Amino acid sequence: MAVHDRTLVELGDVRKQFGDVVAVKGIDFDVRQGEFFTLVGPSGCGKTTTLRMISGFEQPTEGEVRIGGREMTAIPPEGRDTNLVFQHLSLFPHMTVGENVGYGLKKKGVEAAERDDRVQEYLELVDLEGFADRNPSDLSGGQQQRVALARALVNEPAVLLLDEPLSSLDRKLRKRMQVELRQIHEKTQGSFFYVTHDQEVAMTLSDRIAVMNEGRIEQIGPPEEIYRDPASEFVADFIGDTNLFDGTVVDRNGGNVVLIGGSDGFSVPADGAQGDVAVSIRPEDFNLVGEGGDFAGDVTERYFQGDQTNFVVDPDAEMDEVQVVIQGREGGVDTGDRVSVEVVDGTPVVF
Ligand SMILES: Nc1ncnc2c1ncn2[C@@H]1O[C@H](COP(=O)(O)OP(=O)(O)OP(=O)(O)O)[C@@H](O)[C@H]1O
Ligand SMILES: [Mg+2]
Repeated sequence: MAVHDRTLVELGDVRKQFGDVVAVKGIDFDVRQGEFFTLVGPSGCGKTTTLRMISGFEQPTEGEVRIGGREMTAIPPEGRDTNLVFQHLSLFPHMTVGENVGYGLKKKGVEAAERDDRVQEYLELVDLEGFADRNPSDLSGGQQQRVALARALVNEPAVLLLDEPLSSLDRKLRKRMQVELRQIHEKTQGSFFYVTHDQEVAMTLSDRIAVMNEGRIEQIGPPEEIYRDPASEFVADFIGDTNLFDGTVVDRNGGNVVLIGGSDGFSVPADGAQGDVAVSIRPEDFNLVGEGGDFAGDVTERYFQGDQTNFVVDPDAEMDEVQVVIQGREGGVDTGDRVSVEVVDGTPVVF
């Protein structure tokens, strides 16, 4: 999928206050043409508020929203080149599937014949050809959600805004819809602005992710960069699973290292940090070795998961239990075993 350099949506120092609640505390980002951009963060962090300011259903208290280079303050939702798909199903129950999808075109005055063609085209795109005459209530949740998508896509908005559109679906259907969303994005070549608290969905779908916390954006980047090189403790913890350690930077043999877990513990390169720090190490960035690793401990739990095995190790040193994930066949380590734990070089991130 081609992501262009052209910026489509720009937020400049946007703030939003409701009474004494500051929901959005001055955020900046841009969404490029053709990009699948995801805003991810915990419940209440300001995601929906941000999306509603792009769609025009909410006005920023301060700052600027631009779409296609135009300042949007004075432009109502229907004057913006956006369409919104909500978290909860919002089809018109008294209209057929086809009428639902064609609703926006009818409002714009598109003639019946052309409307029918476009409705067919977009029902095909979401894999629902032949469903035009059905009632929404006769469809499954996933099918209804795809009708909602078709209803938004048929207007060919420059930006499709999606607010947790998969959260009402069961896990299996959600996975399938993720794949379909990605395919629909590729076929339409539009810009998608996706909002979710589900970091797994964000990682799977996005060209870039913005991680939001308490009204602020902590990091923006491609999924791999966010995962491998998180900018803060919050990002490391929120995106994927990780082990967070407290440590202190000390000088050892002329180089700075972070000491973790005291004298029985281990050390990692300090990467220029000073004083008291936090260190993030992903579960898959530990290996279990016979001996000679970075620290020793006892295996307290083991969960077999097919393609990988998860272990909990209680270190001898003064530190919390660590989560370890071993891919593939894990070589017979079991609960109660003594193990030595090795940190894969270059993986710890110091904050
Ligand atoms: N109309 C409103 N009036 C007052 N407070 C509001 C209003 N809308 C949102 N808020 C508050 O602003 C904050 C951000 O809300 P928002 O709906 O943007 O969160 P969110 O990230 O979408 O959360 P979720 O994942 O639960 O949907 C919350 O504290 C919320 O209570
Ligand atoms: Mg929300």
